[in-house]
Amino acid sequence: MIPATRKVFIKTYGCQMNVYDSARMADVLAREGYETVEAPEGADLIVLNTCHIREKAAEKVYSEVGRIRHLKEEAKREGRRVEIAVAGCVAQAEGEEIIRRAPAVDVVVGPQSYHRLGETLARARSGGAAVETEFDERKFDLLPAPPKKAAPSAFLTVQEGCDKFCTFCVVPYTRGGEFSRPAERIVAEAKRLLASGVREIMLLGQNVNAYHGEGPDGRDWSLARLVRELAELPELARIRYTTSHPRDMSDDLVAAHGDCEKLMPYLHLPVQSGSDRVLAAMNRRHGREEYFRLIDRLRQVRPDLALSGDFIVGFPGESEADFADTMDLVERVGYASAYSFKYSPRPGTPAASREQVPEEVKAERLARLQALLSKQQKRFNAATVGLRMEVLLERPGRRPGQLVGRSPFLQAVNVDAPGRSIGEIVPVVVESLGSNSLFAALAGDAPARLSA
Ligand code: 5AD
Ligand code: SF4
Repeated sequence: MIPATRKVFIKTYGCQMNVYDSARMADVLAREGYETVEAPEGADLIVLNTCHIREKAAEKVYSEVGRIRHLKEEAKREGRRVEIAVAGCVAQAEGEEIIRRAPAVDVVVGPQSYHRLGETLARARSGGAAVETEFDERKFDLLPAPPKKAAPSAFLTVQEGCDKFCTFCVVPYTRGGEFSRPAERIVAEAKRLLASGVREIMLLGQNVNAYHGEGPDGRDWSLARLVRELAELPELARIRYTTSHPRDMSDDLVAAHGDCEKLMPYLHLPVQSGSDRVLAAMNRRHGREEYFRLIDRLRQVRPDLALSGDFIVGFPGESEADFADTMDLVERVGYASAYSFKYSPRPGTPAASREQVPEEVKAERLARLQALLSKQQKRFNAATVGLRMEVLLERPGRRPGQLVGRSPFLQAVNVDAPGRSIGEIVPVVVESLGSNSLFAALAGDAPARLSA
């Protein structure tokens, strides 16, 4: 590695996979002599790691480039060079078009090609191709090892892409088809993370429970098999995974929630809609009864499982009765947290050209759904007051002696923990509720309702 002489600022949009990719881009650039900085001012390279899932994603990238272009122009006047790179899913979707519409952008790299960011920058500087959006399955092999010191909870990408083609979603087009990393590579990366102080690993994938990477025995390993293997690593305390499709919740994975202690009792399992008609139109490949049965099986093995989900309201053709089915599903399942969105058409996806639900109807349904989900979230959090649970301390809190961590159910918990350190897992008793978090004291002899 050459000593850091240049500065890079990476701005991340969207999901956890982009957070992981940004960290890996920082590793790639460190190899090229770049140090990561926290603000665009003074940086020699600005990377926008973009997301394509939300509405007008590309337009937002163009306006962001417009906002930072002056940094490039000012630097030029001072005889310095500032480069702008657009990475991520908008880069993949727009490709060359980005440079045509925003000439201030120097290079464009897709999510499957950012391991070649250094080369692409060098090539573009000497007048060569500035766009790199080839799918390259060797990406993970060519990435450098993560650096020495990591936060106690780390992301680890195990699979990318998706073959499901839900009719609202751009992922199969931007991230490409499903690809699972070989299990041995994942275990090796996990060991490196643990050696740097990590205690919790969040396994990431667009469709993570479809994971079927090659195992060291030459057979395909499922996500459950991989989780069980990782659970054998003594330094690893907690395992999570996201994001899952109900169709890929295998018996084995459901069973792991019951018998693998390190697998945390929290599951993000998007259902999108509670209406069979809408689920079929979305090409989700399952109905509401199958989803209920799955939730029952999960709760049989892990009664305290905290469930989270994604919902889309106002999908083309969604009637008031369909929406009532979504509200009913939410009532029946009971979520600890959830994300909900108005449907918004993505060019090139099948649902984009169908007849749309009026905006006011979408807005009104979204408000009703969000009111219900937020009531459920409060109810879930309130039910944990008085409980004893373990918290992984992740960062300093606002008050002296306070540290903030996560409960097994992924709730943010502020703990009065003088003398304790980040990275420790401490038993606490939850004392009260904040707006988006819990307050807790270290569990000494304090009475607790029951153990979790
Ligand atoms: N419109 C609204 N929400 C969408 N999502 C994905 N595509 C769209 C779209 N076109 C939501 C889904 C998905 C989450 C990541 O984003 O709920 O699970
Ligand atoms: Fe998109 Fe998820 Fe459907 Fe794949 S399973 S197409 S990533 S919503």
